[in-house]
Amino acid sequence: MLSRRHAMIGSASFLGALASEPFAKAQTAAPASGARRRIPYGACVNLKPLEEEREYRIALETYCQQLTPEYGLVWDYLRPTRDQFVFDFADKLLAFAELNEMTMRGHTLAWYGAMPDWTKQISSAAEAERELKTHIENVVSRYRGRIKTWNVVNEPIDDAKGAVAGLRPSIWLRHLGPKYIDMAFRLTRQVDPKAELLINEYDIECVGEGYKARREALLGLVRDLLARGVPLHGVGLQGHIRGKYEIDDAALHNFVSEIRSLGLSVHVTELDVIDDGFPAAIPVRDALIASRAYDFLNAICTAMRPSVIATWGITDRYTWVPTWNKRKDGLSNRPLPLDASYQPKPLWSVIDYFCGKTA
Ligand code: XIL
Repeated sequence: MLSRRHAMIGSASFLGALASEPFAKAQTAAPASGARRRIPYGACVNLKPLEEEREYRIALETYCQQLTPEYGLVWDYLRPTRDQFVFDFADKLLAFAELNEMTMRGHTLAWYGAMPDWTKQISSAAEAERELKTHIENVVSRYRGRIKTWNVVNEPIDDAKGAVAGLRPSIWLRHLGPKYIDMAFRLTRQVDPKAELLINEYDIECVGEGYKARREALLGLVRDLLARGVPLHGVGLQGHIRGKYEIDDAALHNFVSEIRSLGLSVHVTELDVIDDGFPAAIPVRDALIASRAYDFLNAICTAMRPSVIATWGITDRYTWVPTWNKRKDGLSNRPLPLDASYQPKPLWSVIDYFCGKTA
């Protein structure tokens, strides 16, 4: 069922009005002094098309002001063995970003996921701390002053069980307990005192008990970290929106208002709309996708101006969504702002609208 708001935003006039805005370069000329800048738009980048596809690079150059390596800075890519650091992807992407006057975001230093097998051999708190320290020292120092924002801790909150969500199990939690989070932030701060340090989390935005529990757990964690003097500067909302659920506008708005009142920034870091439950017809599906993103961004932007609005990929041609959320009808997912032929979709119009709203 389409709600009234969905009907409205999906209507020809709303989308038509957005679509009539030029799709050309998102970054407009420098604003007159005193005017606010656009919110930067960012995307995560996959190495293969970056190296092999001109159209892909042109799309990044045309639309993005910030890039994130999709997997170039996660443990299992960087450290296939204990003593190796493979920086090729991150180095190449940073060079591309700097050439095009974009920033690059660091993702991520402490996460339960994407861990190489050798880390299963870590068997004590001392060893875990040593590895975390070696990792952060090597990686953060290499890009000091160039990567200005780090998603330091990724996805620390566990899936909710009942009304409560605790910390997510990981090698770090098992060996170091909850203080692994403090450690990761403090170590990063020591290596690059000027970097902006974030906690990054998903499943915060929708209606339902599980989402409510995760919002509360994340807010509780953020408050505890700040109370302990941990150098935390902001919260990344990934925004892998599960299309089948409504956005909890009021709860998300209040959540972001709380983050703001704690003096922290908010970043939209991995937006995409999971469309496996949506109708097949492309105009309907794209309107629903745009509508979900509209609700999500509206709830955030009416509470606080996000530092960036970034999607997890830029084109439907390269998206992680089908890994877990393939459509039953066999049609391709359409979670991202550009379609598989690099044509902008209504989702891009929504993002462009919010990025420009405060300009
Ligand atoms: C995904 C990548 O897109 C995939 O290529 C990889 O195989 C698994 O991870 N939250 C995150 C991202 O923080 O790092 C994840 O990216 C998606 C969920």
